[in-house]
Amino acid sequence: MVNIDIRKFTTLDSTNTYLKALAQNGEKEGVVIIADSQTSGRGRKGKSFFSPQGTGLYMSILLYPDKKISDPTYITTATAVALRRAIKEVYNKSTSIKWVNDIYLEGKKLAGILTEGAFSSDGSFKYIIVGIGVNLTTEAFPDEIKDIAVSLGEDKKEALINSILSHFFKIYEDLNSPEIYKEYVDASFIIGKEIEILGEKMGNGKAIGIDRKFRLEVELENKEHIFLSSGDVSIKVKKD
Ligand code: BTN
Repeated sequence: MVNIDIRKFTTLDSTNTYLKALAQNGEKEGVVIIADSQTSGRGRKGKSFFSPQGTGLYMSILLYPDKKISDPTYITTATAVALRRAIKEVYNKSTSIKWVNDIYLEGKKLAGILTEGAFSSDGSFKYIIVGIGVNLTTEAFPDEIKDIAVSLGEDKKEALINSILSHFFKIYEDLNSPEIYKEYVDASFIIGKEIEILGEKMGNGKAIGIDRKFRLEVELENKEHIFLSSGDVSIKVKKD
């Protein structure tokens, strides 16, 4: 059983960055950092995460998964399922998962997950930090995201924190569970959709499925099937 130790702050640059410094000094598993706002909230692929004062949940969890997993993607996908379950429990809203780390509500981005870690020389993880950002009551989104972002519309932050942590640490016991994989795939926002692949393997195609290693199977325009790893690429869903 992991001992959960929640520490709250008014403002941090980024809860992930703050927790990383603690991890490097040997802080224990289960420390959770929460801030009311972030001045440099970060997302995947160097993007920023809009984190205004008091309207969102910005939270990071410190983990030492040791030999439990070989790929941090399993932490991201476990968190996505935990987050989805918590939003259903606390807000009674059904969300979907945009591979690999975004939670969508009614076709718009509601929440994001940023998993970061460091490796030991034997290839195992020194530590992993999973950061979660949820738009609770945010309304004034910046122009570049105002058409693609959404919030829950009600501040039930404390209940949401408790529910996320409770679901997450249950799933953490068995990260490779077939039920979690099934729930992740069943909740997919992109399977069956036309997508644009960004990054090294640029191109267009149709998302066909997600395999057991959480790689995205895509049928390219030339009918070739490829499997994308989340570390290498990100994807954009094309407009109908
Ligand atoms: C993404 O959209 O690509 C992921 C967003 C993750 C945002 C959360 S907010 C708490 C934690 N601290 C950060 O700087 N980022 C994550």
